[in-house]
Amino acid sequence: MNVVGKSVPRVDAFDKVTGRARFVSDLDFADQLVAKVMMSPHPHARIISIDTGQAKQVPGVKAVITARDIPGENAVPVIKNDMPLLADDAVLYYGQPVAAVAAETAQAAEEALKKITVEYEVLSAVLSVEEAISDGAPQINDEAEGNIHAYHKIRKGNVEEGFAAADVIIEQTYRTPYQEHAYLETQGMLAVPDHEGSMTVYGSMQCPFYVREGVAHVLGISLNQVRVVQCVTGGGFGGKEDVPSLVAGIPAVLAKKSNRPVKLILTREEDMIMMSKRHPGLIYYKTGATKDGKLTAIEVTYYLNGGGYSTLSPVVMWRGAVHAAGPYKCTNVKVDAKAVATNLVPCGAYRGFGTPQVLFAHETQMDVLAEKLGMSPVDIRKVNALELGDETSTGQQLKHSFGLKKTLDEALKKSSWDMKRREYEKDSGTVRRGIGLSTVFYGMGLGAGGAHMARAGAFVQVHQDATINIAVGTTEMGQGMRTVLSQIAAEEFGVDVTDVHMLPVDTSRVPDSGPTVASRSTTLSGNAIRDGCKKIKQNLARVAAEMLNCKTVDVGFNSGRVYARDLSSDGVAFAELIATASHEKVHMAAQGWAIAPYTSFDPETGQGWAYFTYASATNIAEVQVDLATCVVTVLRITAAHEMGRAINPQQVEGQIQGGTLQGMGYGLSEEILHQDGVMINPDLSTYIIPTSMDAPVIDPIIVEEPFPDGPFGAKGFGELPLMGVAPAVANAVTHAIGARSFEIPLTPERLFQLLKQSNQDTR
Ligand code: MTE
Ligand code: MOS
Repeated sequence: MNVVGKSVPRVDAFDKVTGRARFVSDLDFADQLVAKVMMSPHPHARIISIDTGQAKQVPGVKAVITARDIPGENAVPVIKNDMPLLADDAVLYYGQPVAAVAAETAQAAEEALKKITVEYEVLSAVLSVEEAISDGAPQINDEAEGNIHAYHKIRKGNVEEGFAAADVIIEQTYRTPYQEHAYLETQGMLAVPDHEGSMTVYGSMQCPFYVREGVAHVLGISLNQVRVVQCVTGGGFGGKEDVPSLVAGIPAVLAKKSNRPVKLILTREEDMIMMSKRHPGLIYYKTGATKDGKLTAIEVTYYLNGGGYSTLSPVVMWRGAVHAAGPYKCTNVKVDAKAVATNLVPCGAYRGFGTPQVLFAHETQMDVLAEKLGMSPVDIRKVNALELGDETSTGQQLKHSFGLKKTLDEALKKSSWDMKRREYEKDSGTVRRGIGLSTVFYGMGLGAGGAHMARAGAFVQVHQDATINIAVGTTEMGQGMRTVLSQIAAEEFGVDVTDVHMLPVDTSRVPDSGPTVASRSTTLSGNAIRDGCKKIKQNLARVAAEMLNCKTVDVGFNSGRVYARDLSSDGVAFAELIATASHEKVHMAAQGWAIAPYTSFDPETGQGWAYFTYASATNIAEVQVDLATCVVTVLRITAAHEMGRAINPQQVEGQIQGGTLQGMGYGLSEEILHQDGVMINPDLSTYIIPTSMDAPVIDPIIVEEPFPDGPFGAKGFGELPLMGVAPAVANAVTHAIGARSFEIPLTPERLFQLLKQSNQDTR
């Protein structure tokens, strides 16, 4: 291969580093209005009345809307459609949109917001999972009976028998925090009234087809009347999966009402208050094992704090349930996973989608188990790690392409684990070092939980000058998709990646391709592009066969030339073939289509072919803990990832660099704080994410186990880099200080308490 497997430069790098890239806030229409949203000041209240009379009088104000002004249905369609665009009779979380204004200037819009008067009857707020599921708790959301948004279970074997056969049983409660996506670009959308009552929406998003549905829904118009165009998007990380439908719906209604283009750009504070986050987790985890470390039973009760509306919680919870037992062999597994309704912001997708919470628990369990059995953290994982031919907790046999043990071996070697594990134990001063690890796996794509959307389209067009345009329905949000898919098209035609140009994502250009989530775009859009390329190549092969005097099936495309397979001649230049084909009126454009391989799931037993394939990783963290300040410094992360095939190794390493830092923040510093349900740190000076100054040495290792159904063997792995980092860091901290926290983040405050409780200043 000439292009796949090569670290070609990112196609969008130049625009981004020079500031030439146009984000939605850079896009303006001549008669455009500015939108502002009024947010609920209470976590739970009944709305008695809203008076917008005075707001409408503010000079420059062109439209003021509340729930009553929505022409279509007042709902953001996600799964259950239980979240309104604008609060109607009640607000269920602090920051919930209640009304919105469009005005000539931001000042006028802000002034108008102040003049909207809302009469609330403040209700008591339910703020924790424990409270929400306790007897007699008030029901928060009509759609969530018993305050449960979603419930999934897994039943495999018999856990009672499994625990009876165990020599040791470990039982622990784990808590994990919110995580804010902290994408560089806040959410924003621009709605433009278009021909014959249609609406075009430009904006920052991951899932243009969701936005299209959301806008059509609230405007009460059909899908063919809404066109959505993705602008350059400054990060998503799952945070621009479902909520952009809310961010788009508001200016769309205002645009319809004023018949003017309306732009809504959230400030950082509004964005952090109003938009989704990673769900906080509460996990009861019980593990049984024999003396030699073999797992005999795993029982997990897994709660996610879903907030006021269900939004994506059902699918986030489903993925969490499927991954709850970790990448381990165990014949007896029982998982009960519930997403719980509370009076907090609705949580949604975030890189890892319900697994980083539960894998912090299973990776801590493994270390505790090892400790109890006098085994090393490595051996306990070697004994239990899934391999080809083994079954997951959903009874799925791993039939191909699974390289977890290889990632473990390579990471151990590269990090000099054995040597450092012994050496760091000798530290005795105020500053102690430690080394810890985690092993994780991750189902690719939407899986059985989203099988109805597991397809993707592409449009491929070859022009007379032998250059190529491609288009897909999944999006670039920084992960490198535009580069990777351009490489796949270039490889198919045997041309340089510079001959391929990817068009902006536009819902009018390709069929509904589902969401850009679950690390699915390399595989699904990659296969769709290959399908489109192959159709064009079939047409071209007829022309080439004549030119080369060979059979069509023997025509091959490589290195800018087209050859007969027997290589009896030098072939012809690709450009020459295209010129001839063009002259002969050959059809050189095609739609490609890809459908995900088979998946299945029985909701009663939790058994089935949950995902079509799994990627896996080992993370090894080395830390230094200052016992005087309780500050953890991460020195090095060795991250070995198996993702089928790396289409672009440098991009893979880039994903590992970024994801590792996000995982570090999750484990050490990121925490959303509330006072009576009101978020008190909605800004990046008090919500602490790691910066480049905090970055450790990151040592990425690529392990390849080609996936037969992926483009050139690729599985996709965009989320994996974040996932195993927090538990590896936490296990390293335990190695350094000899005490263990069952809660993250390991802030200095939490570490101080931990050290005080364990009452030890020496190992
Ligand atoms: N990388 C960057 N730079 N920015 C992002 O927003 N999102 C992550 C991951 N890597 C993200 C990222 C998430 S949540 C997903 S699902 C995948 O990229 C999506 O990309 P893929 O389908 O191309 O793997
Ligand atoms: Mo990623 S959380 O699946 O957008």
